Amino acid sequence: MNPAAPPQPVQTGAAAAAAAAAPAPAPAPSPLIELRGVSKVYGQGQTAFLALKGVDLQIAAGEFVAIMGPSGSGKSTAMNLLGCLDTASAGEYRFRGVPLQGLQRDELALLRRQYFGFVFQGFYLLARTTALENVELPLVYRGLPAKQRHAAARAALDAVGLSPWAHHTPAELSGGQQQRVAIARAIVTEPQVLLADEPTGNLDSQRSHEIMALIQSLSRERGLTVLMVTHEADIAAYASRLVRFVDGRVASDQPNSSPVVPAPTPAATPAAAV
Ligand SMILES: Nc1ncnc2c1ncn2[C@@H]1O[C@H](COP(=O)(O)OP(=O)(O)O)[C@@H](O)[C@H]1O
Ligand SMILES: [Mg+2]
Repeated sequence: MNPAAPPQPVQTGAAAAAAAAAPAPAPAPSPLIELRGVSKVYGQGQTAFLALKGVDLQIAAGEFVAIMGPSGSGKSTAMNLLGCLDTASAGEYRFRGVPLQGLQRDELALLRRQYFGFVFQGFYLLARTTALENVELPLVYRGLPAKQRHAAARAALDAVGLSPWAHHTPAELSGGQQQRVAIARAIVTEPQVLLADEPTGNLDSQRSHEIMALIQSLSRERGLTVLMVTHEADIAAYASRLVRFVDGRVASDQPNSSPVVPAPTPAATPAAAV
């Protein structure tokens, strides 16, 4: 990573080593995320497919952006690039002002672990492993001592309203609860950006709205930058900005001046969270 753009106070392990070379912390550059003319080609030769065709996108820290668009329009491809899970074929991606082109896979992995949390439609929890242990996992990879891991995982489970379920396995939890565990796992490392690809795709309407209330509150209360793919307009309505992809391009990009603000309901309180 370019040492000219210092990261925040740093975590443990390899990410700390990577950031140690950076000078003293400075305010995060604006915008936090910037794509310029980003293209993505899958495959080669005759079978090459252009999934992104010159995407320009700027996202400021703390924004909550919903990404919509038809199936196959490049939403997941864009999310994978943004989260450093994949690299662009052409164009420029700057994160915190740092151009990411040319970084090696392990450098991208460090960046990903330090700054990004991921939530997917399928919850991808480890079966036969408790909620608490699932949430601790990213901290195991960071080499954090057990006591600190437990405390951080407890706090993250508390933040998603699942403390009472800490010692239950995924099979003992509802879909909504499993997604809460996945969100806790995503935020336990205190990422700057949460990337959520159809996080409510496997949930019924009520659970979907509860998960959206949670994600919105994480954005508002922690200043978490949220990028969320969804097919549903009533789910996108929680975001403060709506970006629509069509055929590998950004077709529209508009603020949502009045995001849904969920009323506190008994079902949304931690003890009743399902
Ligand atoms: N690994 C891949 N190899 C080849 N084509 C892919 C790959 N991933 C996605 N695509 C193609 O790229 C296009 C965009 O996919 P994707 O970003 O997953 O769309 P969305 O998430 O909007 O449904 C689709 O036509 C899809 O078939
Ligand atoms: Mg997709």
